[in-house]
Amino acid sequence: MTSNTPIILILNGPNLNMLGRREPEIYGHQTLSDIESLCHNTAARLGLSIDFRQSNHEGELVTWLQQAYGTVAGIIINAAAYTHTSVAIHDALKLHQDIPVVEVHLSDPKTREPFRHHSYIEPLAAALYAGLGAHGYVKALEFIDKTRNQANRDNLSL
Ligand code: DQA
Repeated sequence: MTSNTPIILILNGPNLNMLGRREPEIYGHQTLSDIESLCHNTAARLGLSIDFRQSNHEGELVTWLQQAYGTVAGIIINAAAYTHTSVAIHDALKLHQDIPVVEVHLSDPKTREPFRHHSYIEPLAAALYAGLGAHGYVKALEFIDKTRNQANRDNLSL
């Protein structure tokens, strides 16, 4: 990786640190650290680097989104339960309207309890991968890579 390798911020919300032990019939057996390794390998294949984080605290996620302003080339976010409640994360994501934001969920919240059907992230996301387990993170990185390549081609043909 060179020093100008694009950085993709991958944010994970509350309880995702318990993956592997947490409701494996819904979320699978992979741990968050397994998912982080998968993301590292995928990013390396695509020539990207990742900043992979998890927090149980809404404000910390908001602070990380603010700190990333102007420094990252894309954002992948699994806001977990905050997906369905957080206007603060929605507002912080609005800082990043000039880069691709991708929403990811391991399960498909839209097919679960009604309180999971609404997402505050979705209106700001260029793509959504849900119900694919950890593979959703791979798809999200590939989407960001494709979007960036397309944007570069569009710039060249101006
Ligand atoms: C989740 C779905 C959310 O509804 C839930 O609160 C989570 C995980 C998922 O990845 O499937 O914690 O975001």
